[in-house]
Amino acid sequence: KNIGYGKANGKIILMGEHAVVYGEPAIAFPFSATTITATIRPSDSFRLHCSYYKGSLEKAPFTLKSIKTLVQQLEKEYPIGPILIEIDSTIPAERGMGSSAAVAVAITRAFFDLLDKPLSQEELLAYVEHAEQIAHGNPSGIDAAATSGNNPIYFRRGQPFTPFDLNVEAFLVVADTGIKGQTRTAVKDVAYAVEMEHELVEPVMPRIHRLGQLTREAKEAISQNQVQKLADTMNEAQTHLKELTVSNDLLDTLIHAAIDAGALGAKLTGGGRGGCMIALTNTKEEAQVVCKALEKNGAVATWIQGLGVHTYA
Ligand code: MEV
Repeated sequence: KNIGYGKANGKIILMGEHAVVYGEPAIAFPFSATTITATIRPSDSFRLHCSYYKGSLEKAPFTLKSIKTLVQQLEKEYPIGPILIEIDSTIPAERGMGSSAAVAVAITRAFFDLLDKPLSQEELLAYVEHAEQIAHGNPSGIDAAATSGNNPIYFRRGQPFTPFDLNVEAFLVVADTGIKGQTRTAVKDVAYAVEMEHELVEPVMPRIHRLGQLTREAKEAISQNQVQKLADTMNEAQTHLKELTVSNDLLDTLIHAAIDAGALGAKLTGGGRGGCMIALTNTKEEAQVVCKALEKNGAVATWIQGLGVHTYA
């Protein structure tokens, strides 16, 4: 073979970000409106071409360090010689949509495709986990799990995850603040608060446990097709995420704007401090109204995703 292809989706966390780092459950789904493709072919030197960098892998900027490490690891185990890696992505980078995990998934798949070797899910996740440790510091693994699959998942750190039936008759609006999210520092700051908990007026761990409980309640609401109850869990989750300092002004503005425009629930999604927010509505028409309000209030892009199994068929 002289060319290898690999693909991955963006992802959206419906419930449980940050708390998932501490072993609480989270619900996420692959967001197929945004995808990433990696193409790998033999070359005369190791090169990387993506939208904002074209050059030698060695000299790639710091933000691409996780890719560099991943390729070094793959090459060490399977020395195939110099390669050109081309990345084509519609996943906005650093917006809580899992672009760093998705790029690692796509590259690993493309590499094995070029080798013409089968790649098990466990092997794939192990490679991606390693790359994510560099990108994120302390990844729970949810981004790797969600971006590599085709189904929503109910995820707990370190446990085998099962596909999850996200069959609720509702629509989800996703809006991009246009501000780079800061998953790494947000995760680090929460960890610092957990460490210093005894000195804080408001302890942090009870909030994290409550976020986990809200994810369980959201799961139940979904299985019973109770849209308002699901929305309530999202709204409460946002209050805790804000207290954990992982929201920011524009996210708060968009969340309020979504509720004012008729959304039943709204919260940030992913690492926070920028990135994306999500809002829940009953109908597609209501979702369209919410999108307009979000764009008026500063969102740079919006998407509408119907929930329910039909979406993933
Ligand atoms: C990032 O998409 C989700 C976080 O919970 C971090 C992680 O789980 O690795 C913030």
